[in-house]
Formats: sequence, C-alpha cells, structure tokens
Amino acid sequence: MSGLSLGLKHHDELLVRDLNLTLERGEIVGLVGESGSGKTMGSLALLGLLPPAVEVRAGEATLDGAPLLAGPGGAVHRRTGDITMIFQNARAALNPTLRIGFQIRRVLTAVRGMPRREAEAEALRLLGRVGIPGAARVAQAYPHQLSGGMCQRAVIAMALAFQPRVLIADEPTTGLDVTVQAQIFDLLRDLVAETGSSVLFITHDLAAVAEMCDRVSVLFAGQVMETAETVELFERPRHPYSEFLLASLAPEAPAPVEQGQTADAGVVAEEKGVDFSLPGCRFAHRCPHVFDACKEFPPMFPAGERHHYSCFLGREIPVVIAARS
Ligand SMILES: Nc1ncnc2c1ncn2[C@@H]1O[C@H](COP(=O)(O)OP(=O)(O)O)[C@@H](O)[C@H]1O
Ligand SMILES: [Mg+2]
Repeated sequence: MSGLSLGLKHHDELLVRDLNLTLERGEIVGLVGESGSGKTMGSLALLGLLPPAVEVRAGEATLDGAPLLAGPGGAVHRRTGDITMIFQNARAALNPTLRIGFQIRRVLTAVRGMPRREAEAEALRLLGRVGIPGAARVAQAYPHQLSGGMCQRAVIAMALAFQPRVLIADEPTTGLDVTVQAQIFDLLRDLVAETGSSVLFITHDLAAVAEMCDRVSVLFAGQVMETAETVELFERPRHPYSEFLLASLAPEAPAPVEQGQTADAGVVAEEKGVDFSLPGCRFAHRCPHVFDACKEFPPMFPAGERHHYSCFLGREIPVVIAARS
C-alpha cells in the first residue's frame, strides 16, 4: 500500500496521511499507535469497508501485483477472502443467532465451494487447529455460550476458512486476559509459519509488537512517525514519539496510556513559542524536543536500509527557541 490518504468527506483535514505499508509473505507487520491515530481506518480502506463519512483521497494498494485500491474514490478489486480481518470484540463479529460450526461451514461452502459434508469436517478441524478443546461441542454452541478468548479463536478459525493471503488483526487481544492473550499470539505466529499468510497486526501496545512483529510502523495522528524492523526500533529509535512509547514500557514507568501524554510536553511547544499549526509535524505539540524546524512538515528520512523516520531532530542544527530566553 502506498501513499494512502483518507479524509472526512467535505473536510480538508486528513485522518490518515501518506501511509505506506508492504507485507511480504509470511511476515507479521505491526501498526502501532494510540487510539484515534487511524489504524483501523487505514486497514478498512484496504477492505473497501470505510464508514460512509470517510473517503480515500489518494493512494494505491496491490496484492501480489494485482490492484486492490486505486486512487481517489478508492475502487477496490479483490477476490473474496484474499484479505480478512479479525477485530477486538470477537463476539460482536459472530452472528449471535447461529451456531459456531455453522458460521464456519458457511464460509467453506460459500467461498471455497466445499461440499457440505467435507465443510463440516473441515470446520471441526479448523476449530481444533485454533486450540479449541472439544471442537465438536463448541461447533454446536452459540457465541454467547463461549468465553471471549474462545470467541476470538472461533473468529480466527473463520478467518482461516477463507485461506486469506493477508490477515488483518485489529487489536485482537484487547480485553482478553494476559494468559489468553499470550495463547492467541502463539496461535497467530504458528498460523503464519504454517500458512505463509501475512499479518497486519494492529495494536496500541508496543510490548505486543515486540512479541509479534518482524517490522513495525509507528502511527501518530494518522501519520507514520517511524518505520523499522522491530529489533531496530527497540534498539535505535529515532523519533521522539517512538522514544516516548518505548519509555512507557519501562517497568518503573506508569502503565502505558492509550490516550497518553508525554509529561507536560503539551505545553513545551507553547513555552518555546513554536506555532505548531499544520502543516508542521503532528507530534510537535507533545514533543519535548520541539524546535523551529517542526513548523515544517518533516519528510521521511532514512536511518538504515529498512528504517525511516519523520523528524528533523538531529537533521538540522536546532535553532532552539529557548536560546531567545
Ligand atoms: N465512523 C467514522 N466516521 C468518520 N470518522 C471516523 C469514524 N471512526 C473514526 N473516525 C475518525 O478517524 C480517526 C481514526 O480512527 P481509527 O482508525 O478508528 O483509529 P484507531 O483504530 O487508531 O483507534 C479518528 O480519530 C476519528 O476522528
Ligand atoms: Mg482501531
């Protein structure tokens, strides 16, 4: 996906700006950012499932060379099941009035054209594959009879039924307890190794990225601040926002807050007299290092072969406003 920009209809402001993502086969790529940063909208665009108020302003996406999304208006061409998505609230993704087994079987018959008997057996196999004990019994159950963790497994089984090339996992373990979260992570990793699908792993939690992802893009206010291989980002972060996220992982730090604030950084820009109104850096108003250059929009600078970041810090001599005082 390249240059994806999304906006609200009849508004100039962009919800997502110039998002670039590449998924190699069998790769897990993270998209991390706080709530409202545009993670979900970015991925819904790929599925052609944007809410009516949101439109594609620019951008292209391809899957194995075939166009998925082309330009403004964002016509989407895709084969059913090439990309599937699993969500935070798995129970809500299931039809409450239908038995679990039937919901999976339906995908197998409708999308993959399996005969009913075969689909029944395959649905049970998939439920077993995602670690559901007593698959036959669970197949007969309705969503409300299952725990949140079991519902998420069932949804993953349903996603697998599509044999997707790309699986988008949007905060798949938020709200599940830590043990179940770890099991779901293990399951997703195993499935990737087994099927060679790619996963776009969306989260607000860098710890989850560390555990899951080969590469990661850090999103803030609809814009990628930094993108790197996961190890590289953890060892050599270049963007102040990445640093902030990493610092909040330290054991002595307060629990990472989804709507987080860097300590009093909100007033830093003001104190330094920097007017950070657009089109400057979107993180400027919360950045402890903000300086004059941040009034301009920072392009992506290379910091390594697969490492890019959008910040002027260390790029230009900070004509530090503080020098005025
Ligand atoms: N249904 C909607 N219609 C219009 N705008 C929306 C809708 N949902 C979210 N938005 C806007 O899109 C932005 C990005 O939201 P979203 O992609 O859901 O963020 P995230 O998934 O990172 O929490 C939000 O800040 C909000 O302003
Ligand atoms: Mg979201």
